[in-house]
Amino acid sequence: MEIVWEVLFLLQANFIVCISGRLPISSSFVWSAQQNSPKIHEGWWAYKEVVQGSFVPVPSFWGLVNSAWNLCSVGKRQSPVNIETSHMIFDPFLTPLRINTGGRKVSGTMYNTGRHVSLRLDKDHLVNVSGGPMTYSHRLEEVRLHFGSEDSQGSEHLLNGQAFSGEVQLIHYNHELYTNVTEAAKSPNGLVVVSIFIKVSDSSNPFLNRMLNRDTITRITYKNDAYLLQGLNIEELYPETSSFITYDGSMTIPPCYETASWIIMNKPVYITRMQMHSLRLLSQNQPSQIFLSMSDNFRPVQPLNNRCIRTNINFSLQGKDCPNNRAQKLQYRVNEWLLK
Ligand SMILES: *[C@@H]1O[C@H](CO)[C@@H](O)[C@H](O)[C@H]1NC(C)=O
Ligand SMILES: *[C@@H]1O[C@H](CO)[C@@H](O)[C@H](O)[C@H]1NC(C)=O
Ligand SMILES: *[C@@H]1O[C@H](CO)[C@@H](O)[C@H](O)[C@H]1NC(C)=O
Repeated sequence: MEIVWEVLFLLQANFIVCISGRLPISSSFVWSAQQNSPKIHEGWWAYKEVVQGSFVPVPSFWGLVNSAWNLCSVGKRQSPVNIETSHMIFDPFLTPLRINTGGRKVSGTMYNTGRHVSLRLDKDHLVNVSGGPMTYSHRLEEVRLHFGSEDSQGSEHLLNGQAFSGEVQLIHYNHELYTNVTEAAKSPNGLVVVSIFIKVSDSSNPFLNRMLNRDTITRITYKNDAYLLQGLNIEELYPETSSFITYDGSMTIPPCYETASWIIMNKPVYITRMQMHSLRLLSQNQPSQIFLSMSDNFRPVQPLNNRCIRTNINFSLQGKDCPNNRAQKLQYRVNEWLLK
């Protein structure tokens, strides 16, 4: 059944939603719309239109249904974005990323949150990152996976308009200024997200292999399933490159706070066709409800506006161009592996 929304108005905190067109208005939707706003709970959003049942706001509506989320629609520094490599700027002051695990392995619990595969680290072994665009040290809080229903989509960020099959996001918070991720997420310089594109191949990244092997991934088939993993080495998740691209943006889920610095590694990691298939077999729902694949859990790209995209890749042509026409000749050569 086709659903057409034409108008959606919000009036201050008590919002009124006017919808024209055909929409299966369920009891929960009517309930939500008629309540005064406090009951718009923080989980009331989705990536895709729900096949059956209640109205749940998709990305273009996130900022409209809840006044606490208005940055999702009016924010000017939103994520993800499409990275046009020809517009990147080489920043010689970007230092290498430093990942500090204290030489220890970590353990964490892997969850099916209904929206993502999410690995939350235990608090006993901390992993910090610093360097790159960071002025503070940031602590790893969560590893989150986004992926597509087909290989040509799934990543949140795009590179020259091209999506990847998935994207791993390592979400860190500024532990020098804030006591936890919740507080940091709404505060200046709060978050640093390291993002790594995922491609499908014959081999598999050793860290992702731990998460996505059959024995493990099938334990979190349904929403709220959880599974403990031990002896993880975060450094194994990183691709072999020190090159990255960075810009200032936002969280890619409501409330879309503009507190995140993004660091996108200039090489992908790989997972096998079988592992990608297993991801697509994860359900957004609990076992008693219909199966709804978690795949395509990405927010569409947002306008870059006048933000600057910086990189530590020195793409200067060797010597021979004079400073004046250099700008024209600058060309970022994306790592071949990324574009293949
Ligand atoms: C991370 O930072 C905290 C606070 O500065 C520090 O106590 C801890 O040792 C650091 N951990 C690592 C692995 O560097
Ligand atoms: C996070 O820190 C804030 C401020 O210290 C505190 O009020 C809040 O309860 C903490 N939240 C969690 C989930 O620990
Ligand atoms: C960038 O590369 C050019 C040409 O190879 C070199 O002259 C320059 O020193 C490099 N800059 C930095 C900051 O490494």
